[in-house]
Amino acid sequence: MRTIVYLLFLVLIFSACKNDSGKDSYTDIADFKSVHEDGYVGDVQCMQCHKTAFKEWKKSDHDLAMKIANDSTVLGDFNDLRTTLDGVSYFFSKKNSNFSVHIKEIDGSEQEYIISYTFGVHPLQQYLIDFENGKKQLLRVTWDAVEKKWYHQYAGDKMDPHDWMHWTESSQNWNTMYAECHSTNLKKNYNHQDDSFKTTYSSINVSCESCHGPGEKHVLWATNSNEEDGVANAYILKGNSQFNQLNMCAACHSRRAKLTENYAPGQYFEDQYLLQVLDTVNYHGDGQIKNEDYVYGSFIQSKMFHNDVKCTDCHNPHTLKLKMQGNNLCMQCHEPKYNEPSHHFHSVDPKSSLCINCHMTGETYMGIDFRRDHSFRVPRPDQSVVYGTPNACIGCHMDKSDTWAANQVKQWYGEKRQEHFSDGMLLSTKSGMTPNERKMLDDYINNLKYPAIARATVIDNLNITSTAQFLPILNSLKDQSPLVRYNALMKFMILNPAERISIASEHIKDTS
Ligand code: HEC
Ligand code: HEC
Ligand code: HEC
Ligand code: HEC
Ligand code: HEC
Ligand code: HEC
Ligand code: HEC
Repeated sequence: MRTIVYLLFLVLIFSACKNDSGKDSYTDIADFKSVHEDGYVGDVQCMQCHKTAFKEWKKSDHDLAMKIANDSTVLGDFNDLRTTLDGVSYFFSKKNSNFSVHIKEIDGSEQEYIISYTFGVHPLQQYLIDFENGKKQLLRVTWDAVEKKWYHQYAGDKMDPHDWMHWTESSQNWNTMYAECHSTNLKKNYNHQDDSFKTTYSSINVSCESCHGPGEKHVLWATNSNEEDGVANAYILKGNSQFNQLNMCAACHSRRAKLTENYAPGQYFEDQYLLQVLDTVNYHGDGQIKNEDYVYGSFIQSKMFHNDVKCTDCHNPHTLKLKMQGNNLCMQCHEPKYNEPSHHFHSVDPKSSLCINCHMTGETYMGIDFRRDHSFRVPRPDQSVVYGTPNACIGCHMDKSDTWAANQVKQWYGEKRQEHFSDGMLLSTKSGMTPNERKMLDDYINNLKYPAIARATVIDNLNITSTAQFLPILNSLKDQSPLVRYNALMKFMILNPAERISIASEHIKDTS
């Protein structure tokens, strides 16, 4: 038994010392020891016994989320190419095995940088450069992997090198802004005294243990063939229930604030993060995506979430690809009647009758990255008429008006729309509410048939102007959702501290 463990150990050491570039990804900033820190063992270990999962995951967007720059990972054109974007001149070249970029800024200052890492792969690739004090910065100029050309995010902006948004400044710092969601077991290790980082990770990319948690105990268990304790596949996070799976994905696939120092796999998302509610800065008033919202905040609005649908009903967890093409993906669960012109009123044309084009519209981010809204809602052009929210119909029928689309929907599906949680959310964004409308919203926030994130948002949107209006919010302090409780608690900020104490002290015992 012991020898097997020992052998595994050797394999581990051997594989940690080599990778495609000849450089050692583990000793780069996280040395080999930290691979074992907290029980992380690295994906090479898992490969021995889970060949299929490994093969599927290899070359996925998770595997390629971050890599050491080398000939097999860099997609951009570094063949002595010159280009000027928004007044900044670039010269991309190769120096021996290094990828180099010479930059002349708008203020005339010039410098040459060596690319250390690639970041992402499709539809665009970004590049990281090592700076002093352990910082890595994300180069603004980006490779468009579809059109095969260099481009600028925020095209048109002329950026002074001292601007906070300039790529050498804090807003584009990898250690604080990006690292956590591209590597496994990331520890920022910031030292405020000298403004430096000793950031470490166990695996450079989103590896097996990002989702399944540290594998050391599992590997020891699996290697110990004598142990017949019947605890099949023990000591590993499986992610096969909706709850466990969402806790795996949400840490990275959500717009949120962090509450703890380091992410702890397997622990409840809401104990570690504060999810962004559907405020009108980051989302449209009805909850559709506006800024980059990263899926989770959208998905938990949906009826599918409330009916136990998981990410892996549609995505393979390892390749990340969709499990089926076109409408077949949705027809796994939905009745055939939806796939007919009697439902969608379009010819069975591959584009206009595609479920996702009406129920999963999208936005383009970072210039070229089109991402779809995971709230799986029904098109509501009638809401667009009143509130100016976008709708799927006008996304394609750009020459038509919202009123046209709203009338068309009435003609097809009848006068009345089914109630949707977004009706209440939109109402809560309105100024000058009637007492009756206000009463509806007071009921809304305590009505569990609406998604928790929508109720939390309505609480956030509401103005408190009289003592009586605190009553429904007092109930929300006991809500089953931590997000609702948190947003209710924040409402008491307008009281003076003495009045707040009795309410807040009760909340100290909150489980989240
Ligand atoms: C020495 C062999 C071995 C190694 C190494 C190993 N596993 Fe396993 N793993 C097993 C066995 C055996 C099971 C239980 C049998 C089964 O369900 O396949 C299992 C089960 C699992 C399961 C649960 C599968 C299910 O039933 O849903 C996951 C997830 C898993 N392993 C992930 C990993 C990860 C991640 C690593 C690397 C950190 C790893 N394993 C390393 C042998 C191994
Ligand atoms: C993005 C998160 C994620 C990553 C990364 C990931 N897995 Fe999984 N894995 C899952 C989820 C979720 C499931 C359960 C899927 C389900 O039940 O629908 C799963 C299932 C499994 C299973 C059991 C079913 C099967 O497909 O065999 C094994 C074994 C496994 N993973 C091993 C691995 C290994 C090895 C790696 C790294 C090479 C890895 N996983 C990377 C999320 C992940
Ligand atoms: C440690 C952070 C992390 C975790 C955990 C994580 N992801 Fe991701 N995921 C990413 C990043 C980063 C990308 C984008 C990579 C890039 O830049 O191309 C991504 C991309 C994806 C994509 C898009 C792939 C494509 O082809 O466009 C899907 C789908 C996805 N993740 C699903 C999941 C699911 C499902 C889970 C949970 C089972 C999960 N992820 C867990 C970080 C994570
Ligand atoms: C009902 C099916 C379905 C479910 C459930 C689902 N997705 Fe998706 N997802 C899609 C489709 C369709 C696309 C678009 C793919 C494309 O355009 O190639 C997509 C795209 C993505 C992308 C890439 C674009 C983007 O928004 O960044 C990510 C990441 C992603 N899904 C993550 C997730 C996560 C995480 C979950 C679970 C919380 C999830 N998905 C649940 C169908 C689904
Ligand atoms: C794993 C099963 C499953 C898959 C796959 C699935 N759905 Fe659903 N969907 C459901 C369930 C369950 C409901 C809730 C039904 C209900 O409450 O009547 C639902 C509800 C919906 C609704 C109604 C939303 C509302 O507010 O009334 C829409 C729209 C929808 N799904 C679209 C899609 C689309 C588009 C796809 C494919 C990308 C898809 N679904 C894939 C199970 C699924
Ligand atoms: C051209 C746009 C369009 C397409 C394509 C489309 N739908 Fe719909 N769907 C709608 C509209 C509009 C409604 C809301 C009808 C209403 O307001 O009464 C709706 C409602 C629904 C509902 C909610 C329950 C119901 O019956 O009202 C489900 C579920 C649904 N669609 C599933 C699908 C699926 C699955 C597909 C693909 C096979 C699909 N839809 C394709 C426009 C479309
Ligand atoms: C993916 C793009 C797309 C979406 C989304 C879409 N349509 Fe269409 N629509 C088309 C195309 C293409 C045609 C013509 C061919 C056909 O019928 O498929 C069309 C035809 C029509 C027609 C008949 C011809 C005309 O212009 O008078 C009407 C009415 C219509 N759509 C209304 C709607 C409404 C209402 C919605 C939202 C519920 C909607 N469409 C969503 C692409 C789209």
